[in-house]
Amino acid sequence: MRPEEDLPAILAHAWSLLVRGGADRKSPLHTPVIASVDEHGLPHARVMVLRKAEQSAASLRLHTDARSPKVAQLDGRPVAVLAYHPGEQVQLRITGTARVLTDDDVVEGIWNQSTLFARRCYLAEHPPGTPLPGPSSGLPAWIEGQQPTAEQIGPARPNFATLWIEVTAIDWLHLANSGHRRAVFRSANGWAGEWVAP
Ligand SMILES: Cc1cc2nc3c(=O)[nH]c(=O)nc-3n(C[C@H](O)[C@H](O)[C@H](O)COP(=O)(O)O)c2cc1C
Repeated sequence: MRPEEDLPAILAHAWSLLVRGGADRKSPLHTPVIASVDEHGLPHARVMVLRKAEQSAASLRLHTDARSPKVAQLDGRPVAVLAYHPGEQVQLRITGTARVLTDDDVVEGIWNQSTLFARRCYLAEHPPGTPLPGPSSGLPAWIEGQQPTAEQIGPARPNFATLWIEVTAIDWLHLANSGHRRAVFRSANGWAGEWVAP
């Protein structure tokens, strides 16, 4: 069987691309699109950094501001993730359930391991999307262009949230001149995978 026609190998390869996406800033899967629906039923999509992917837990982890509108749209709700790897010519359309965690020891560990520069954006004075009188980073003036100290970053901690996606389905599409291929894998049927029309 050719590797591109072996369903378990395809699923493992899709996860290996996601794992790489979580670990390698240069991977095109490092910045997937995360889509949600608001309380009016309107769709919202935005690019986010994929921090970690784990096949054994069927999970993805991302970071965000706890005050951002997407948190309410996503916590405990369905989520869609879209990513395309041009080198592999593979599109992944992932669906799952999102969960936002802010307080436990795992989140604390992730916060402490982030660089001070990465943590600095959580010092923003207003929730993302707040109207501003003019162009601004939203950061307090005293920290613009500077790395905060461990002490200065303390007040940012309540604004830090981790977004966990429990993956329930992966729709894999591979583009090739010899013929496109598409398969859908669902946790509900043990990730067995089914071929579908591209
Ligand atoms: C390359 C790139 C990476 C981004 N990474 C994140 C991220 O990891 N977390 C995040 O909350 N927003 C990230 N953003 C900003 C979001 O796309 C979005 O503008 C912001 O989170 C507000 O979204 P919301 O109003 O839907 O909550 C990123 C944007 C770009 C362009």
